[in-house]
This record gives sequence, C-alpha cells and structure tokens, in this order.
Amino acid sequence: MHSAVSVITAKRDGGELSDAQIDWVLDAFTRGEVADEQMSALAMAIVLRGMTRRETARWTQAMIESGRRMDFRDLPRPTVDKHSTGGVGDKITLPLAPLVAACGAAVPQLSGRGLGHTGGTLDKLEAIPGWQADISAARMREILADPSIGAVVCAAGADLAPADKRLYALRDVTGTVESIPLIASSIMSKKIAEGTGALVLDVKVGRGAFLKQLDQARELATAMVELGTDAGVRTVALLTAMDTPLGCTAGNSLEVAESLDVLAGGGPADVVDLTLALAREMLAQAGLDGIDPADALADGRAMDHWRAMISAQGGDPDAQLPSARHTETLLATASGTVTHLDALDIGLATWRLGAGRARQGDPVQHGAGIEMHVKPGDEITEGQPILTLHTDTPEAIPVATDLLRDACTIGAAEDVHTQPLILGRVTA
Ligand code: URA
Repeated sequence: MHSAVSVITAKRDGGELSDAQIDWVLDAFTRGEVADEQMSALAMAIVLRGMTRRETARWTQAMIESGRRMDFRDLPRPTVDKHSTGGVGDKITLPLAPLVAACGAAVPQLSGRGLGHTGGTLDKLEAIPGWQADISAARMREILADPSIGAVVCAAGADLAPADKRLYALRDVTGTVESIPLIASSIMSKKIAEGTGALVLDVKVGRGAFLKQLDQARELATAMVELGTDAGVRTVALLTAMDTPLGCTAGNSLEVAESLDVLAGGGPADVVDLTLALAREMLAQAGLDGIDPADALADGRAMDHWRAMISAQGGDPDAQLPSARHTETLLATASGTVTHLDALDIGLATWRLGAGRARQGDPVQHGAGIEMHVKPGDEITEGQPILTLHTDTPEAIPVATDLLRDACTIGAAEDVHTQPLILGRVTA
C-alpha cells in the first residue's frame, strides 16, 4: 500500500523510487489524491536528491500515461519537431516550422506561452490578427496531412501530459524548477506525447537562458536525448549560445516581423544560420537527406508554407501587425565597439515593457518589446541609436531603461569575445 508520505520520505532520505511508487504517485496526483503540498515536497526532495536514469525514464512515462499520446505514424510524411529550452529573441520556430514543412516533413509542434523573461512561441503568433492557438486534434491531423501546409504550432490540449501541467505550475511557485531530471521529464513527456517521430532539441546556454553553464546544458541535453531515444523518438540536441539575444528584436509582433524578413530571404545572420542549422538536423532526423533547406528559403517555398500555416489557424498573413503606442530610443553614451549586449537584461526589460507575463493567464501586449540597432562587434559613435523600446504603457519605460543601464557595453575592439552560435551537439 503506497502513501504520499512514504514516497516523499524515501526520496528525502536519498532512496531510489521503485517503478510502482512513481506510477502510483503521479497517478494519485493527477486524480487529486496526492495533495499539491505533498507533490511540492516530493519535487523539492527530487531537486535536492536527484533521480537516476531509470527513475527519470519511469517518471516521464508515468506523466505521458496521465493523459493521451497522439500518434501520427499513419501520415504519408515523416514527422519531426524542434523544442527550445527558451531564450531571448528566440523566434526560430516561426521561420523553421514552415521551412521544414516546405522540405517535405510534417511538423507537429505543441508550444507554450512565455513566463518571465523568455518569450513563448504562442504569444508571438497570437500577435497575428485572427490566429488561434487552440485547435482540435482532428484539425491538427488535417493540416499535417496537407502537403501545401504541413506544419502546426498550437497549444497542448488539457489531456496531454496533465500530470506535468499540474506539477509544472507547482514547481514554478515552490522553487523547484531547477532540477535536470524534472526539467528533462517535463519537456520530454510533452514531446513524446505529441506523437512526433523525431525531435531536435535546442538547449540554450548563457546569460539569457535557463542554464548558464555549458556542462549543465550538456547534462540536460544528454538526459533528454536518452529519454527520447528510449521512447522510440529519434532525438538529437544542439547546445546553442544565449549570452546575447538572437536577431535584432525581442517581443511578440516585432519578432513576427523579423521572422517574415527571414522567410523573405533576408533577416539577421544569426537567426538565418540557426534556422538553417536546426532545419538540417530536423531533415536528417526525419530521414530526408540530400535536401538543402537554404533553397526553400531562397525560392519562397518556406514563405508559401508560412502563409498557408497562418491561414489554416485563422490568421491573416497579410494583416498589419500590431504596433505599440509609445516608443523611446536609447542612444550610445560613448563611441567605440559594442563588446556585449546582454540577453538577460534585454529579456527582463522586454518583459517589463509588457511583452511577457508575471503570472500564468496574464495578458501580453502584442506590440511591446525592444529593437536592437547594434550587435557585439559593431563600431558605434556617441549619440547613435542603440535600442528602441516599444510599449503601450509608458510608465514601464523608466523601469525598462533602468534594467537596461548596463545591457550594452562599449569598449575596445579587442574586448569583443564573440562565441560560435552552436557550442555542441549531443546524440544518442
Ligand atoms: N519547460 C518545461 O516544459 N518544463 C520545465 O520543467 C522547464 C521548462
């Protein structure tokens, strides 16, 4: 006979939980028999004591089994998805999903909303007038099967890994997010349950990421690649730099506009490079070798799939994107070389300008965010525009300006230490 207290104390004292204990506790939690305070205590014991590979795999499996597992194996095209652990200016899914669909794969992507300083893909797409994040599983299948669309980015239904949904909400408010087994099982339970055949993980490392150190990111990537592979999902991870924001915008409609530039064959080099690197990994995992995604960007096929993908979810791809009511441009206070542009400062300021939310369910401002006019390595002169802040709430401008005090460092050219965008790759 199991009890919540016996499972909590077993882990508190450094024990390894049995399969039966894990299955019971997650099932009883989903049914409401294990109370939130008991699950929070167990999460804290896991943060402090860790979980073995076997425990993490079983925990992931039990979270998948708390709901429904989707299955797209009958589709005529291979399915492949990408998941990013979250960064600042990380709009890559927007050009990537239609690009990979244009190359012949089906992309079923269940995405999330932003919380804190990292943005969420659904918040970005919701800046497009009419676009709907909530679609039925049947409609999702229809879109994936349609070769002129082939990509869906939508919210996970309530029946997809419900144990994770409840547990993540508790972890968020009990200081128990930072645990590699809990993060890995949380992300992978949703990705495995969404029914993708292959998965590419973009594990962000640096100031603007969840994980600041390369060794931590590698550990998380390894845990997730193992979980995916063991569950029959071909999984690979790239470790990518997040010390400086991706691209030149952070904020919802600003990032959609920048993604459109990429789909039109332009856009910032870092966004294009990472989009193509992830597309190549996705196509390889999907078994579509020998296709160069750069061709589909250059000849407009990715843009055609974007337009079809947006329309399929009620959006108007030709509608004007919302813009904020107030802008303020911050100018360089000295001449020299931009040595650092801080992803965390930019992310926090973007959030405070109204692009992000402090609590689940809060509304976000579609037009709020920051345009970055410089990148590390750029030569600038005093008085030149560095950042433009966008918001509907002008009282947020002094708060954001204060957060951005040290965001852009100006120094000598030899002080620029740019690192490669891709810092490592983890495979099974
Ligand atoms: N994203 C998730 O879905 N779960 C975590 O635990 C952390 C990030």
